[in-house]
Amino acid sequence: MANSEESISKRKKEHLELCSTDRVSFKGKSNGFENYDFMHHATTEVILDKIDLSSNFFDKIIAFPFLISCMTGGTSEAENINLRLAESAKHLNIGLGLGSLRYILESDSDLSHLRKIREKAGEVPILANIGIAQVIELKEYSKIQKIISELNADSFVVHLNPVQELLQKNGQYNFAGLIKSLERFITAVQIPIIVKEVGSGISKKVAKQLLEINVKGIDIAGAGGTSWAAVEILRNNDSLNNDFWDWGLPTSYCIRKVNKLKKDYDFLLIGSGGINNPIEIAKALALGADITASARIILQTLISKGEEGVTALISDWFNTVKKIMYLTGSESIEHFQKNKIAKTKDLI
Ligand SMILES: Cc1cc2nc3c(=O)[nH]c(=O)nc-3n(C[C@H](O)[C@H](O)[C@H](O)COP(=O)(O)O)c2cc1C
Repeated sequence: MANSEESISKRKKEHLELCSTDRVSFKGKSNGFENYDFMHHATTEVILDKIDLSSNFFDKIIAFPFLISCMTGGTSEAENINLRLAESAKHLNIGLGLGSLRYILESDSDLSHLRKIREKAGEVPILANIGIAQVIELKEYSKIQKIISELNADSFVVHLNPVQELLQKNGQYNFAGLIKSLERFITAVQIPIIVKEVGSGISKKVAKQLLEINVKGIDIAGAGGTSWAAVEILRNNDSLNNDFWDWGLPTSYCIRKVNKLKKDYDFLLIGSGGINNPIEIAKALALGADITASARIILQTLISKGEEGVTALISDWFNTVKKIMYLTGSESIEHFQKNKIAKTKDLI
């Protein structure tokens, strides 16, 4: 996710180290979910065991509306993390996002590790990932096609990270020509494109601009969880009072606003950014997310409890989501998205 002058492995190592702690959280801004509460439905007739959370991810079905967000790649430690996450994703039948594959574009690296990730993950959706700065620079697409075929990738994710690039030493924050480059990329890459932020959110206006050029998924990756400004501030040993630490649109706001575009466009709305528990997952779904996703908490759980811990965490989360659906009288996610959540201030 960054500039070419410093070594990728050093940068990846520092990202992993910092993200294994909570030092990189937003300080004075939340994801906004605390402003909502569920509509308790005392006459629920829903049969808990019959609630089906299986969801579409383009043309595949996943067991829960959840993706492991794009994180890492490009070093042996990162490959090991991806293989272990692939194991959990396969076990649960959920999607797996990979971190930026920029290192492949910039070297002659052997791609056999991508095939290993696909083997470990079985048939679950795998999302390849690249930054917008690389999309703008791309002259030809043969390596991109090779990545897609080695991974048998189900989607290519392009991340937008202007705050991070702006705060990074030698960051590539000149995004002039972004929309045209993205359009070319979408035409060249024949699989569905998801555009995501990395923790500063995607507004309705930006989402509309992206949907107009045929982006098929929007991961709003809003503010309130991991701050990539914070990651770069800490890497640079800059002042902790940096004005941009808490920059961005809260996750709940982005989901609510971008959801309004569903009446005009057919796309997958992915809700992420500081989603760290089942209440937040349920609120994201109730506000309109088709799929939810988390990054840092998954990495931290992998480090502390291994792949079994990740599997247990996600499956516990969705057991609780089912109970919330039962209590709101929602037999399906579609039903859950109809007035099952309210602003807390209106519940007085
Ligand atoms: C260690 C780590 C590395 C990340 N690397 C990438 C990346 O390469 N590409 C990307 O799109 N997002 C990357 N992200 C951002 C996440 O996908 C996510 O959008 C962001 O961290 C907000 O989610 P969270 O609050 O659940 O962590 C990374 C996140 C973490 C924790």
